[in-house]
Amino acid sequence: MAAINSVTDLVVEGDLAVLTLNSPPVNALSYGVRDGLALGVAQAIADPAVKAVVLICDGRTFIAGADITEIGGAHKGATLFDVQSIIENSPKPVVAAIHGTALGGGLEVALTCHYRVAVPSAKCGLPEVNLGLLPGAGGTQRLPRIVGAQKALEMMTSGQHVPAKACLAMGLVDELVDEGKLREGVLAFASKIVAEERPLKKVRDLSDKVEADRAHPEIFAAFRKAHARKFRGFLAPEYNIRCVEAAVNLPFDEGLKVERKLFVELMSGPQSAAQRYAFFAERQANKIPDVPEDTPLIAVNTVGILGAGTMGGGIAMNFANAGIPVTIVEVKQDALDRGLATIRKNYERTAQRGGITAEQVEQRAGLITGSLDMNAFADVDLVIEAVFERMDIKKDIFEKLDAICKPGAILATNTSALNIDEIASVTRRPEAVIGMHFFSPANVMKLLEIVRADHTGKDVIATSMKLAKKIGKIAVLAGVTPGFIGNRMLLQRQREAQKLILEGAMPWDIDRVLYDFGFPMGPFAMSDLTGLDISWIKEKSKGETIRDVLCEMDRRGQKTGAGYYDYDEARNAIPSPVTEKIIQDFVAKSGGNPRKISDEEILERTIYPMINEGANILEEGKALRASDIDVVWENGYGWPVYRGGPMWYGDQVGLDKVLAKMKSFQAIMGDQFKPSALLEKLVAEGKRFQDVTEVTALSRQPLL
Ligand code: 3HC
Ligand code: NAI
Repeated sequence: MAAINSVTDLVVEGDLAVLTLNSPPVNALSYGVRDGLALGVAQAIADPAVKAVVLICDGRTFIAGADITEIGGAHKGATLFDVQSIIENSPKPVVAAIHGTALGGGLEVALTCHYRVAVPSAKCGLPEVNLGLLPGAGGTQRLPRIVGAQKALEMMTSGQHVPAKACLAMGLVDELVDEGKLREGVLAFASKIVAEERPLKKVRDLSDKVEADRAHPEIFAAFRKAHARKFRGFLAPEYNIRCVEAAVNLPFDEGLKVERKLFVELMSGPQSAAQRYAFFAERQANKIPDVPEDTPLIAVNTVGILGAGTMGGGIAMNFANAGIPVTIVEVKQDALDRGLATIRKNYERTAQRGGITAEQVEQRAGLITGSLDMNAFADVDLVIEAVFERMDIKKDIFEKLDAICKPGAILATNTSALNIDEIASVTRRPEAVIGMHFFSPANVMKLLEIVRADHTGKDVIATSMKLAKKIGKIAVLAGVTPGFIGNRMLLQRQREAQKLILEGAMPWDIDRVLYDFGFPMGPFAMSDLTGLDISWIKEKSKGETIRDVLCEMDRRGQKTGAGYYDYDEARNAIPSPVTEKIIQDFVAKSGGNPRKISDEEILERTIYPMINEGANILEEGKALRASDIDVVWENGYGWPVYRGGPMWYGDQVGLDKVLAKMKSFQAIMGDQFKPSALLEKLVAEGKRFQDVTEVTALSRQPLL
């Protein structure tokens, strides 16, 4: 075997040249890979003994895309276009051999090969949209020429990874070969095309699909309309659509020009910068400085859940979906029956929508069993407690768990705000106790805050982080602090939203500003959805807040047909004259002096205190890094990904500007706006949150 460079080898076997890439972890198209490809294919073409070239990868995957770390940076070596041009114009057939994932630039390289072969477990996709981009190496023009506009639109705007079998059906892959036998399979395929003297198939020259689509321009308007809600605020989906339109309506080279122009625009814009940051932030969140990668893991093959309420049921579904059996324990039979029935209903609803098969409903629901006896937890590897949010109840339960559970079992609590050190203190094994803070609905929401208490063992942390990935969650490590990362910051926004309606803004003004910023809904619409009466007690209500008054009037949110808003039959929220009057009367009674509040003030009053609280959290060592806080907000609270999370957003606005505003609010309204010491320090040093280095052990050591 001859090395082309440090990541590419070329070997000639009979009349076939095999070019192998090996650039861990994912064979991304870094400059070394591009150079290796360009040189390797050229060398194979020049070799008179070679009749066809096979492109294959070592390691876990085919090329998973451009090297995202290089995007937007200075260019080195051969360009991707050089590589593609050498491959596509090769006088000898080039065959791509796909395993793992062929994504982004990886699939675009494969699309310039004359044939594509894959193993059944392989997947292909153009996920650039998730990085705020579009496929910038001809993918937008080639994909529609194979699969047609509709499928190309779906793939490019969702970024989905399409399984090999579906790729074969679409013509994206020419042949499937046996799993684990890619090399043999592709060599046999290449020999066959040589023997049959098959023509060089260039995707760029295909025209039947796009010509047929040209007669149906309505595809595009319909697609935009159907996905308007999902695409709201994002630039990349629209730009991807425009590229497919260009593929349908323009000659190939003209379409490429459109692609290039729009790609460059996206790449240099703020949305893609934020989305690329989010990609790495999510992966960084898994790294815990004092919990090394090789920390021994605890095997989690069975799970116990205490409480079959809103959270317990959803949490159980996550594990069953991953094939892990769950036992749910409740106090009363009717609560257990209700919980299990809700789980089944949820699965059936997913099946009705085509998400899973009827067989999967049975299989998953069958993995969840109920009991009224906590002794059922004697042998489970992990227990997650999800009962009422009361310290006395939780302590009582953890004492019992300590007595019942086997040594080595992980004892987790789903508390949303209680002190986990205090909960752990009642056990003889505080090292086994950890917070697993799921978000509602727990079977849907991606975020999982893993809360490290004072004595939590490193193996328990490492296992919990890995387990999160296994059940499809994005985990972030937090320290013990009221509300952990997300809810502690949310409290700031809630407080300001409530204050603002007493100062002259209406709930729908605040909701509109935050919706326009990119949140799926504002705080008042959210309150109406979840119910205004959560933790409201009728007997204790004294009409001291707007919420008290609304609840007393039975305006408790969507479930009672009215809350902050009125609702029509279709559950559309309508600004309510009743609420407006309640607020006005309330303000008049309390001697308030309502004023006109600008949208700018609403945004700054609700967002800046959150950023400031994020800085406090960081400074106290309750989050490892600013990007972890951003991962929390993007995946648990609907922060628009294209704005990169509150800390990233703060950096973009300029921390000096955030600090100045906090100071001016503080001067008028008091110490709720007291700037964080970390914010002051960063501004003084001309630094950003992104410059803050990690807190070593998520300990209580401040960063200052
Ligand atoms: N560039 C640089 N690094 C990458 C990368 C890429 N395209 N894809 C993955 N990595 C890195 C990750 O950051 C991670 O690094 P770490 O170990 O230091 O944290 C490592 O590879 C492994 O990644 P994951 O933890 O995500 O591994 P998984 O096995 O869970 O997933 C994957 C593998 C499905 C390939 C996933 O990494 C992925 O989705 N990658 C991104 C794919 C993508 O978006 N490609 C398009 C890039 S843009 C492009 O191609 C532009 C072109 O059109 C011009
Ligand atoms: P819930 O009221 O819907 O369910 C609690 C269930 O626990 C009830 O079914 C109750 O019968 C059961 N229960 C009470 N004592 C028990 C005991 N000793 N043994 C067994 N079962 C017992 O409450 P929800 O909303 O599911 O909350 C549970 C926990 O999750 C709380 O700590 C809450 O703070 C937390 N949480 C809630 C979120 C939410 O949005 N609802 C989000 C994140 C965390």
